[in-house]
Amino acid sequence: MGTVETKSAEATVQKTLLNVLRGEAAARTPFWLMRQAGRYLSEYRALRARVSGFLELCYTPELAAEVTLQPIRRFAMDGAIIFSDILVIPHALGLEVRFVEGEGPLVERLGGAGDLARLGPVEGMPERLEPVYAALRTTRAALPAATTLIGFAGAPWTLACYMIEGSASRDFARIKAWMFADRIGFGRLLQVLADAVAAHLIAQVDAGADAVQLFDSWAGVVPAGQVEACVTRPVKAIVDAVRVARPGVPIILFPRAAGLGYEAIMRGTGVDAIGIDATVPPAWAAEVLQPFCTVQGNLDPLALLVGGAAMTAEVAAIEAALGRGRYVFNLGHGVLPETPPEHVAALAELLRGEA
Ligand code: CP3
Repeated sequence: MGTVETKSAEATVQKTLLNVLRGEAAARTPFWLMRQAGRYLSEYRALRARVSGFLELCYTPELAAEVTLQPIRRFAMDGAIIFSDILVIPHALGLEVRFVEGEGPLVERLGGAGDLARLGPVEGMPERLEPVYAALRTTRAALPAATTLIGFAGAPWTLACYMIEGSASRDFARIKAWMFADRIGFGRLLQVLADAVAAHLIAQVDAGADAVQLFDSWAGVVPAGQVEACVTRPVKAIVDAVRVARPGVPIILFPRAAGLGYEAIMRGTGVDAIGIDATVPPAWAAEVLQPFCTVQGNLDPLALLVGGAAMTAEVAAIEAALGRGRYVFNLGHGVLPETPPEHVAALAELLRGEA
């Protein structure tokens, strides 16, 4: 077959996930899973053992691309999320970031607005993150044409949590104290992070990402009166910047555990799709969120870990509520490291109607 025919055949391949994120109807529910690459896969653990640190894995394009492809080979998800981390942004802005086995990430802490000067210029950041973009290009070249490639970043509030708390936190006392005591300085930090995130997402699109997701993993700890300033406004600034620079690229927002804040965040940001955690009733999301955007979620990761009839029943209930509208199947949070890969295989069969 000549190359011309091959090319034109590829051009007509539909990406079901991308279409649904854009609001188009699809014959079947597309799916992918947050943290679909990682420690639950033996081939990930084998590759991880060959490098000295987690960041080295993120910054070696061939390895990051390989890890991205591992779950696609096994389970043929509709979307591949590039293997990287939300903490590459604080790292590229000049803060020390370390991943300690069994402890989670450790980030060099910012103590207050006076420390903003320690952050490197946003303009220099895309160059430092070049390995991430190289990984996207390598992944795109190896992916099936029908698979949607997803780029991502942490949302400003969640990045600020790690940059101010220094690690996962129990009470978020430091970030809340700064936010309440110095609204202007704290607002400047969120603005710097919004600029950095927008630049990183745009560069990921240029490297081959079809869609992008913003992880606001700690949206659920923002006091109600501050959701507009800490979640909605910074995310809206990113949405505006990406849409002006690269129109038509769907933006997914995952404001985890935002609860009663979900509706205002969805309306105020105007994102193309919203990820719901497992505490959000699917019927509520169908009524309140789905008329305005694509809904993505929300199987509890523990139901996937347990598998079997309990998982099947949960999936059926979620699909019954959301499956008729703009809907992408996903978990309510990331795949847990203890998850048996056979349960992911069973889930994939169920979603494809093969079970
Ligand atoms: O498959 C994918 O989803 C893509 C890769 C991905 C990782 N992190 C790889 C990773 C993605 C999308 C992330 C996002 C991320 N990173 C978030 C937002 C999503 C969420 O979970 O709320 C957050 C908060 C982080 C920060 C982070 N990175 C934490 C808290 C940890 C430690 C947790 C743990 O599981 O140990 C990481 C490390 C990390 N990021 C791992 C992986 C596969 C484990 C590192 C290892 O291999 O030892």
